[in-house]
Parts: sequence; C-alpha cells; structure tokens
Amino acid sequence: MSALLFTPYRLRDLTLANRIVVSPMAQYSADAEGRATAWHLMHLGNLAVSGAGLVIMEATAVEPRGRVSTRCLGLWDDAQAEALRPVVAFCRAHGAAALGIQLAHAGRKGSVERPWEGNATVPEGAGGWQPVSSCDLAYPGRPQPHALSTGEMAAIKAAFVASTRRAAELGFDLVELHAAHGYLLNSFLSPLANHRTDHYGGDLANRMRWPLEILAAMREAWPAERPLGVRISATDWVEGGWTPEDSVIFAEIARELGCDYVTASSGGVSPDQRITLGPGYQLPFARRIRYEAGIPAMAVGLMHDPALAERALQQGSADLIALGRGMLWEPRWAWHAAEALGAAAPFPPQYARSHPSMRFGDPGRPFLERGARG
Ligand SMILES: Cc1cc2nc3c(=O)[nH]c(=O)nc-3n(C[C@H](O)[C@H](O)[C@H](O)COP(=O)(O)O)c2cc1C
Repeated sequence: MSALLFTPYRLRDLTLANRIVVSPMAQYSADAEGRATAWHLMHLGNLAVSGAGLVIMEATAVEPRGRVSTRCLGLWDDAQAEALRPVVAFCRAHGAAALGIQLAHAGRKGSVERPWEGNATVPEGAGGWQPVSSCDLAYPGRPQPHALSTGEMAAIKAAFVASTRRAAELGFDLVELHAAHGYLLNSFLSPLANHRTDHYGGDLANRMRWPLEILAAMREAWPAERPLGVRISATDWVEGGWTPEDSVIFAEIARELGCDYVTASSGGVSPDQRITLGPGYQLPFARRIRYEAGIPAMAVGLMHDPALAERALQQGSADLIALGRGMLWEPRWAWHAAEALGAAAPFPPQYARSHPSMRFGDPGRPFLERGARG
C-alpha cells in the first residue's frame, strides 16, 4: 500500500502535494516595526523547498499589542506586507509547498523579551505595552492586562479582517486563526482565563462567541476558494479548564462557519497545566475532533517518527501531520520520510543530485518529483 503521508490532500481549491505540514513557528526575528527580515527569507525559503506539502508561517500579529515580543512579525500595515512580498515570491518560485499564514494576537502573554533573551516582561516605555485580555486576570508572572471593552473587541476583530485581506493580496494559499496557547482568543475560550460577566464570558457559548465571530469575519474576507483553519488548545490540562469535549463543540460550529480544518494543539493557558508528553501526545484530540465534529484535523506534537505519522493517517486519527521542532532539527525530514516509506517528495532540481538514487549516476529512478509549482 502506498504511503498516505505522500498522497495529495485537497482543501477547497488548494491541492497539497502531500500531508506534511510545517507547523507555524515564531522566529522572533522581525525588525522593531514587525517587518520580515532576511531571516524569514532564509527560514521560509528553506522550508518551502523541504518537500512538505504546506508551510504555515509563524504567528503574525494583527496589531502592535498582538505581538508576543517586540521582534514578532506583524501584518497590521502595508510596509509589513511589502517586507513579506519577496519572501512569498521566493517560496512561489522555488518551493513546492503551499504557503499559509497564521494570524494571531498574543493577549495577556504579550510584551516579553525573546525566549533566548530570557522572556522577561518588556515594560511600557522600553518598547513594551500593556497587554490586553478578556478580563484583568494576569497570566502568573506576566503584567496586569487591560480587560477589553466591546468597542475595543470590535477594533481587534477589524484588525484580524484587515490582516486577512493583506494576506490574501500577498497571495498566501491558506490562513490559520491562532486561538491556542493562552493567547488572546484562548483567553476568551478558557474558563480559567475568562472571568467576564457580559455575553462574552460565563458559559461555553458566551466564551466561544468572540473567537467564532472573528473566524466568521475572516472567512468572509478571505477568498472563497482558499482554505481557512483554526488552531486551538484542545485541553488546558487543568481540572476545571477547557476540555476536549468543548473542543468538539467549538470545531463543529467552526465547520458550520466555513472553517476547513482544526489543528489540535493544547495547553498554554495556565502554568498549573500537567501535560502528559510522549510521541503523538495530542493525536487523540485530533482524532476526536475529526470524528465527532466531522472536520479535517491537523495533528501536531511529537509526530516526527515517519511510521507514527503514517499510522495516524492510516488509522484515521488525522488528515494532515504538522511538525515543528522536528522540521527545524531536520529540514529534510520529508525527503527522509519518503525514503523510509518508499514514496516520493517534491525536490528542487538544484538539489536533485543529493538524492541517494542519483549518487551513482542513475537518474532514471522515479523518486524525484519536480519541485516548483507550475
Ligand atoms: C520555536 C517555536 C516557535 C513556535 N511558534 C508557534 C507559533 O508561532 N504559532 C503556533 O501556533 N505554535 C507555535 N509553536 C508550536 C509549534 O507549532 C508546535 O505546535 C509545537 O512545537 C509542537 O509540535 P512539535 O513537537 O512538532 O514541535 C512554536 C514552537 C516552536 C518550537
């Protein structure tokens, strides 16, 4: 049987060459204005020719307060769009991967130093800002957030829509809404972070209301033929927090609103989380969402064993397999997984001679697929 991991996958009018996805990964390497730099050209360019079917660009902020650090990418102004244009052009010209973008707002976890600088709060006046959240409950150790008024929420929703339009104009193939990891939308979803008393807080329907409103508004702004997905934390890993059952309900409504897939990540809302880590540790959440909400699911989290990735697809636990750290560690993961599973992955012709089948001057073997998309 041929490897499912290397079969094409279709979302609306977008056909991915295979089921391998490069998970969005913040690089903290934008300039101080949130614009892409040469790092992004190298990083995304490299991943675009990696053989993966889809590369999703890192969490990209829809307003300045939506960044995690002062060096996170933004797409709230046209100059940021222009800085991304050559990156997108490179990926288009040389990569076989479709290109997605994740739009995000850091909420109460924003205004910190880059991880390798220590993650400490950057105070207002030193380039930092007062974070915003569903209510004035701080993430432990982080600054006091400002509770958003409904007027401010409307402005942030409009910012998500404006960034969505810029992403469409830039030619991204797919957009993903970041509603996971304790960031702003997650701070509305989770009962641990949302203590509002209006109709955006309280029961599940109320807590889901604003994230789903944003999703619907983005769907309307995003071209109908292009796919839109959402990343959620399928569980808070804390008693009394958001649950996999809540995730299924959220995913079902998201599907009805025109969402094309859900990525099942987890955690990030509370430092009290107790995560059971191991290969494929979030896969059961993807499986539940896929079966119970009837929506394509992207699995992520320690999925870098090719046999595990293939088994997850064969067993119907997920439709797409995303890798984060595994791809940074081994950007040729897709080529090597193809070798392991007896399949073929897209290759840029410039690198074709590196393939084991070419080393003894035998270009006839059918392992190589032309890289760039026509
Ligand atoms: C350096 C780094 C940056 C990340 N940035 C993001 C991000 O911007 N958006 C997001 O949703 N997840 C982000 N993540 C989480 C990954 O996308 C992924 O879900 C997580 O690392 C688990 O998958 P893995 O075991 O394959 O690494 C990041 C992870 C890493 C290691």
